[in-house]
Amino acid sequence: MNSISQPSWLDNAIFYEIYPQSFFDSNGDGIGDINGITAKLDHIMELGCNAIWMNPCFASPFGDAGYDISDYYQVAPRYGTNDDIKRLFDEVHKHSMHILLDLVPGHTSVEHEWFKRSMKAELNEFTDRYVWTDSIWEEPQGMGCIRGISDRDGSCAVNFFSHQPALNYGFYAPDPDKKWQQSTDSDGAKATLEELKNIMRFWLKMGCDGFRVDMAGSLVKNDPDGKGTIKLWQDVRRFLDEEFPDAAMVSEWGEPDKSLQGGFHMDFLLHFGPSHYNDLFRCAEPFFSDRGKGDVSEFVRKYIESYERSDRKGLICIPSGNHDMDRLARSIHGDNLKIAFAFLLSMPGAPFIYYGDEIGMRYVEGLVSVEGGYGRTGSRSPMQWDDTKNAGFSTAAADTLYIRQDSSIDRPTVKAQKADPSSLYNEIKKLISIRLTHSALQSKGRIEFIYAQKNEYPLAYLRTAENEKILVIINPADRHTEFECEYIINDKVYSIGGEANVNNGRITVPPRFAGYYTIK
Ligand code: NOJ
Repeated sequence: MNSISQPSWLDNAIFYEIYPQSFFDSNGDGIGDINGITAKLDHIMELGCNAIWMNPCFASPFGDAGYDISDYYQVAPRYGTNDDIKRLFDEVHKHSMHILLDLVPGHTSVEHEWFKRSMKAELNEFTDRYVWTDSIWEEPQGMGCIRGISDRDGSCAVNFFSHQPALNYGFYAPDPDKKWQQSTDSDGAKATLEELKNIMRFWLKMGCDGFRVDMAGSLVKNDPDGKGTIKLWQDVRRFLDEEFPDAAMVSEWGEPDKSLQGGFHMDFLLHFGPSHYNDLFRCAEPFFSDRGKGDVSEFVRKYIESYERSDRKGLICIPSGNHDMDRLARSIHGDNLKIAFAFLLSMPGAPFIYYGDEIGMRYVEGLVSVEGGYGRTGSRSPMQWDDTKNAGFSTAAADTLYIRQDSSIDRPTVKAQKADPSSLYNEIKKLISIRLTHSALQSKGRIEFIYAQKNEYPLAYLRTAENEKILVIINPADRHTEFECEYIINDKVYSIGGEANVNNGRITVPPRFAGYYTIK
């Protein structure tokens, strides 16, 4: 799977994640919309991001913020129309940017017409669209299920929340005693996969540039090593290579050795599972803290393992946050936010900046769950643009906003941060422009860790491309640190917090510091 088509724009892509309901409300109804995104493309471009991932925007009852789709071919009316999104694609391209939609292949909403037909007792085109047992008294083990609401005698497996029935892509090793477990080449499983391709074809033809794929590793059931799911995505890859070779595919899988084999271009580092991502940003003693009590070593160990095991290097994407985790600014403060971005923007793979993280938007505490957000709701509050009503997000009455905003007097806004040369926004803007002009710092530049010791600071790594070697040193701790290093520092590319000094093969690093240096 080494020779797959790869759009060249991914090599220096820097993504901005947009949660459409919370970005900008163009029609004053209290919720963000597609035309609102189109109106704010300049913000994304000015920051320096050149690509967008937009969370699901399709018809849905919104029991899981749109990850419960009821029609894959229609933009949700609350966000606008298919014509609006077509216009958004065109405007994105006019701004020399690219946009990925969110593809949700694993499950639908219970309100999807397919599911309604699938619940019927009589056989029909959708009988095998989902994973059903053949008796209401038998539950699909380990998967959770929907039962007792259909005329059909059976229980339907779910993929996430209990209102998200699992689509049927078959079982890798069907249990011969459970006739309802279909194989991956059964007619039902094949029909689901063909429909998935139709959905992709529909949006790619309209002008989107590819997909972020939700729970990409979960499609084939009874598939502990992911072999069946990898094969499924290889089939999708052949389809894309033939019909849409420029489409970009980024997986929410968290196992790049598997997803890249499946033909994805990039895989997300997940905030759950074995990645140790949370050790850096979201735990009691994060590495990015001036207390300096964190530990980066397990993260680095796991990162190297995934990096070495993926046959095409450098394609693990590290997000600043997303709609599923706490805001970065909930646990990282002050200059350490800037230092965290100096790290994120100098790692291989495309960085993903979650909307609002560029201004340090805070987690809004104490919110009641909105549309299946639960604890995630506080990270999904409406964008803070300026000092006008609702921080410029919407002209609706404040108490009708889709999610309540951060109400603190000193809440960060785009307007204020743009005007302040020492703001987080301006630091990130600077870091992005540095990344865009140094190929060693971009997605495919090689990485070699120079210093990442247990419970020690700093973190140091070398990024390398054909003509360039850049040493990155990151010291969030509020104390001087030093480490042995055979390299001689040449020119400074970037620093915050002072300068690193070389003395007899040792580099001394000031407190709360990040620096990029070319080396001899
Ligand atoms: C992952 C998505 O990021 C999350 O928001 C969603 O709830 C689940 N997948 C289910 O689709």
